[in-house]
Amino acid sequence: MIRVNEIKIRDARREDIPSIVHTCKASTTQEELIGFSAPEWGTFRDANQLRGIWTTTNRLKDDYEVIVAEMKRQIVGFLVFKREIEFLYIDLIDIRKSEQGKGVGRALVEHVENLAIKEGLTSIETDTTENAQGVPWKSYDFWLKMGFRDTGERLKTKWDFKTIPFVKQLN
Ligand SMILES: CC(C)(COP(=O)(O)OP(=O)(O)OC[C@H]1O[C@@H](n2cnc3c(N)ncnc32)[C@H](O)[C@@H]1OP(=O)(O)O)[C@@H](O)C(=O)NCCC(=O)NCCS
Repeated sequence: MIRVNEIKIRDARREDIPSIVHTCKASTTQEELIGFSAPEWGTFRDANQLRGIWTTTNRLKDDYEVIVAEMKRQIVGFLVFKREIEFLYIDLIDIRKSEQGKGVGRALVEHVENLAIKEGLTSIETDTTENAQGVPWKSYDFWLKMGFRDTGERLKTKWDFKTIPFVKQLN
């Protein structure tokens, strides 16, 4: 029996770079990002830049790690995270537009949440942005749905948007 929408999560490999870049570009349009994202956050949209920071196995420089989600053996999403001393930080998550709303984002977040729990970490942190008009980026409600709490802080950046930190306590 073929199971529809079966999602497999695994560590990324260097050979996945083209698919990861494709997934990143297929998750949002450049237009949607205007006002919410810094021009220099383009590393995952450029295979050469991503190769430049990829170190070994699924690791990037500064100990960031990449996991991917596959459906029908095709990469449809990825998540970048880092283990800090007490908590796990989710830096980035992107799902191809055509596969959004099918549980892939949830599967990736739950995967790192389980890792964090196994390792005795106390929380997971992440963030999104809000534009100059105070409109949050469209993933805001996804993070609430995944059990994260908006800390209420709004951190200024050198661009027009502010950062919205989220936290999820694990114990
Ligand atoms: C945000 C994103 C990661 C969510 O992943 P996804 O695979 O589409 O989400 P899922 O299908 O796993 O949804 C999980 C739950 O969150 C809800 N959800 C997802 N996106 C939502 C949104 N924008 N608003 C409200 N709820 C949302 C779903 O309804 C689902 O709820 P349920 O489990 O009760 O049915 C994905 O849409 C994406 O890549 N967006 C573009 C890039 C992006 O915004 N990245 C995050 C930057 S901070």
